[in-house]
Amino acid sequence: MAQGAYTDQKLHALLVGPHGNAIESDLRKKYGKLGKVLGVALGGTVRILSRSSDHKTFAIKQFRKRRPSESERSYVKKVTSEYCLGSTFHHPNIIETLDIVKEGGNYYEVMEYARYELFSAVMSGLMTREEVACCFKGIVDGVAYLHSMGVAHRDLKLDNCVMNERGIVKIIDFGCSMVFQPPFEKKIEMAKGISGSDPYIAPEVFVTDQHDPRLADVWSMGIIFYV
Ligand SMILES: Nc1ncnc2c1ncn2[C@@H]1O[C@H](COP(=O)(O)OP(=O)(O)OP(=O)(O)O)[C@@H](O)[C@H]1O
Ligand SMILES: [Mg+2]
Repeated sequence: MAQGAYTDQKLHALLVGPHGNAIESDLRKKYGKLGKVLGVALGGTVRILSRSSDHKTFAIKQFRKRRPSESERSYVKKVTSEYCLGSTFHHPNIIETLDIVKEGGNYYEVMEYARYELFSAVMSGLMTREEVACCFKGIVDGVAYLHSMGVAHRDLKLDNCVMNERGIVKIIDFGCSMVFQPPFEKKIEMAKGISGSDPYIAPEVFVTDQHDPRLADVWSMGIIFYV
């Protein structure tokens, strides 16, 4: 989960808004009806949505429900941290995170929609070596941008890359990301604990107490390239 990016006060301010308006709003009223499921994963369910007002297409991630062992506060912090981090990124190879809506106890993150799963596109065998290399370059550029923003992704894998109709790769899913260097700080914070997905996790993540999350991202990119 995203760590360190937002203090409790900032998250509270985000949730209630400057004039006391909660982000609670009617997803259907604001955007329209949810469509077919694009992906079901640990963090939630992602569905397609065509906005009723202009038929623009979005991907909507409905965050998983709160676990019984989790406090409301830590659950809300996790969900909103993922949104807060995602919404600060603006780069051609990073998915645009546009909005967060709370409806009936569920949190929905609104994102730019990318039509293709990179995993399926690569495995289809329909892409040339040059096209695959171009996609990989997009991933490297996206990760270089994240690192320049002081954020490590910490769950890089083919499943967390999608591709739009113009063949541009977009990195998604900031649910495990961490801020290793807050703005204007020189110190790099090391990561603790295991984050990521097999077989993309760097060996030092398992065998050391703390590791440089940027290097773990680089290892994961190597596995993506190898796959
Ligand atoms: N913006 C998007 N456009 C198109 N498809 C998307 C988008 N975001 C997510 N998806 C699809 O939904 C799936 C799950 O999304 P995501 O990786 O954000 O969920 P998660 O629960 O955090 O995943 P994980 O299992 O990696 O923790 C993705 O693998 C992808 O297929
Ligand atoms: Mg994912």
